[in-house]
Amino acid sequence: MPHGTWRNGFHLIPPTGWLNDPNGLCQLGGTYHVFHQYSPDWPAPSAPRGWGHFASDDLVHWRAVGDGFAIAPDTPDEASGAYSGCAVPVEGGVRLYYTGNVEEAGDFDYVRDGRRSVQILIESPDGYQMGEKNVLLRNADYPAFCTRHVRDPKVWRGNGAWWMILGARDLDDRGLVLKLRSDDGVAWENAGAARTAEPFGFMWECPDRVALGGSEWLSICPQGMQDRAWANGIRDQAGYLPLPAGETLGRAGDLTLDASAFRLWDRGFDFYAPQTFVDESGRTLLVGWMGMPEAPWESAPDRMTWCHCLTVPREVTAGAGGALLQRPARELEALRGTRHELAADGSLELGEHRADVLLDSVEGPIELSLDGALSICWDGAELALRFVDDAVGCGRTARTAPCSGLRDLRVLVDSSAVEVFANDGELAFATRWFPRSPSLTIDEKGQSLFITWEMGDGMAGTY
Ligand code: FRU
Repeated sequence: MPHGTWRNGFHLIPPTGWLNDPNGLCQLGGTYHVFHQYSPDWPAPSAPRGWGHFASDDLVHWRAVGDGFAIAPDTPDEASGAYSGCAVPVEGGVRLYYTGNVEEAGDFDYVRDGRRSVQILIESPDGYQMGEKNVLLRNADYPAFCTRHVRDPKVWRGNGAWWMILGARDLDDRGLVLKLRSDDGVAWENAGAARTAEPFGFMWECPDRVALGGSEWLSICPQGMQDRAWANGIRDQAGYLPLPAGETLGRAGDLTLDASAFRLWDRGFDFYAPQTFVDESGRTLLVGWMGMPEAPWESAPDRMTWCHCLTVPREVTAGAGGALLQRPARELEALRGTRHELAADGSLELGEHRADVLLDSVEGPIELSLDGALSICWDGAELALRFVDDAVGCGRTARTAPCSGLRDLRVLVDSSAVEVFANDGELAFATRWFPRSPSLTIDEKGQSLFITWEMGDGMAGTY
């Protein structure tokens, strides 16, 4: 199977090299900007990460901006990587905040010693031209209880001030979020910490704040979760915690959160480091990395020259009981082409692996099989994603979520990426897969009607 057919049509992928976390998500003067962690020289060992950049006028058709770094790790304060960060649109442009990571040469544990975590600001008039790099914070500026792991700033304005949250690991090896306050977004002071009452992992990466309808959520990526019953043995997880009613991250003081209220953003194999932003229409949109640190499965089989992709933009809304719902941004429907109907026990073959499959009323248990290799199944109690062909799953096995009633199901198939959404976006599963046949076969078992659209290519002509 030529690698070209694994290149996605509407999930962002690097031209070559390695991609991880989405960074700097924003909309400026109508244009959407998605930056991301990028190592163009991957698989060269120790290729440091900087930021790559995509832009779009409609969230569907994307162009890669330049063919290298948008932010290169080219100063001594980011010698081991220009790490993750965010964007804050301001009058006359945008501010980009990110972490410079420096690992000193020597015999260090790189937790308590040998590492520097520096917060850096770049101002840009338009998201394309980058101003100078200003160091805002160094390790000596963080509270004394922190190790050297302090990174991934998320910044916003509210309550007449600027606020920043940073992911951190403390000297007891507990994950937490630092809160900082500023009058101008440049000079910062410590303003407390948000932690769970019980230990919840050794480090929290990529913190984010979601504010919807007067409530707030703290999104975190806790590391060290492999022994939790729900973690499928995987160390790093991505989810969110509701703040107590009336609380906000944009206020000085410590916050204690209830770890038992933690919910996963996504139940699939490949989802980490999501970031949200509010676009110019006021929608909260989320993009996740469809990859995992240290995953025990393969994401670049057969010596592919690029690794990992991002999820489609997902619109986030508040659901019942503290849940956040995620639905693919409605703009994606613009890529829908030929429409097919697939009834009970039907089968469909499409020329390409790009499809939007929709079921909006469920008559009973169902199973959708993609290429006879990946099964998406609801049996009345659970929604499951199961690889039945390991050559296609490349080490991915099965993922399930309790689901006593299935109301709707949507499956986006895009070359080597699949995203599944169910029940108004209460459940999401993101997974990579590496189909071996040039055409996509969809088989349906059950009594329901699936509508399938062939999907166009939003990346065509980009490279
Ligand atoms: C999460 C992460 C971040 C860091 C970045 C480096 O995947 O480890 O904490 O900023 O990736 O690429």
